[in-house]
Amino acid sequence: MYDLVCVDCHARFDQTDIIYTCPRCGHLLTVEYDLASIEPPGAVWQQRPLSVWRYRELLPVEVPPVTLREGGTPLYHLETIGEELGIRSLYAKHEGMNPSGSFKDRGMTVGVSMALQLGRRIVACASTGNTSASLAMYAAKAKIPAVVLLPAGKVAVGKVAQALMHGARVISIRGNFDQALAMVHELCLTHGLYLLNSVNPFRLEGQKTIGFEAIDQLSRVPDRFVLPVGNAGNISAVYKGLIELKTLGMVDSLPMMTGIQAAGSAPVVRAIQEGLPAVVPEKNPETVATAIRIGAPVNAEKALTAIRATGGTATAVSDDEILAMQRALARKEGIGVEPASAASVAGVKRLIEEGAIDRDECIVCVVTGHLLKDPDTVIRQCEPPTEIDADIASLVSALGL
Ligand code: F0G
Repeated sequence: MYDLVCVDCHARFDQTDIIYTCPRCGHLLTVEYDLASIEPPGAVWQQRPLSVWRYRELLPVEVPPVTLREGGTPLYHLETIGEELGIRSLYAKHEGMNPSGSFKDRGMTVGVSMALQLGRRIVACASTGNTSASLAMYAAKAKIPAVVLLPAGKVAVGKVAQALMHGARVISIRGNFDQALAMVHELCLTHGLYLLNSVNPFRLEGQKTIGFEAIDQLSRVPDRFVLPVGNAGNISAVYKGLIELKTLGMVDSLPMMTGIQAAGSAPVVRAIQEGLPAVVPEKNPETVATAIRIGAPVNAEKALTAIRATGGTATAVSDDEILAMQRALARKEGIGVEPASAASVAGVKRLIEEGAIDRDECIVCVVTGHLLKDPDTVIRQCEPPTEIDADIASLVSALGL
């Protein structure tokens, strides 16, 4: 049993109401379970495979879920990068290993299932790319149409390819992500499409399982969770899940929630560093990490709470720091991620160098999307292949043997 509750005025709404923000005050909504009536399900969970659906007692879905086997992603110990930074317990939760190659699948398996549960038959989103790829995939599985709005020219090619191939109706907006989101939100309210951006509280329910899995994999609560922040949904989701575990008495501490943004697109970082009550939107965000090129994060108020309530922090990293860490993860750890994902580990490096975090901490970085999402940015950083004639002498000579 759950209610939709406003995070600000705490008004409660029925679970069947199709609303994305509080009709009374306009603030965000959250899903609130009657945790007092739930037996702590720890022992039951341990018997199920590691996946989003291991945690179904803390998910709102009552219909058979639309699933492509999401979650259960690896948690890698970053041995080499950790050693270089002097951190023994540095981990990366590789969300690029989800079905569509990003963490969005955790949200979409729940969100598209909820669309069916609520009787909605067309789903929609705006996206910097990954949300659209994931929505297209889960809509295909659910046999319902999907509409996706993308900022023209600013979405990595792998993500557009996925949205197109899985059959979504793909619309390119001559504008940025924030404008596309405002448009699709209005479209959904006026035309009855079901909105599956992270303003949708049910989608975040799926994403909170990243935190549950990391704790199960480590057999402890890490001291710190570090996430790249765009629309600020994921960091809010992970925090919410951990609060639920604490309320159920299943963990006794909360990790310090830490958000990393790209320097050219960092309204959450600015709000944290300057102690502002709310973010000041940026009109023209810019970064090579197009996934997090967002100037007006819709979940900012939840994210600020998550960071402040846990004694966490936020910092911004340059595009050069992001790309250097993308290469380091690929070459020193064998972990292929897209630029936005590398931002979390680049942020840890920066915070360590600034003395802002402790080397003795157990740190989990969420690396959010797969390397192949954005092949253009990879190719631009690497030497091209060496082309030779098709004979062994040329090969030996090219290899300098
Ligand atoms: N990393 C990647 C790879 C992303 O695609 C996103 C968001 C984030 C991090 C940030 O997560 O928005 O919850 O703070 N991508 C969205 C999209 C905006 O449309 O695919 P967030």
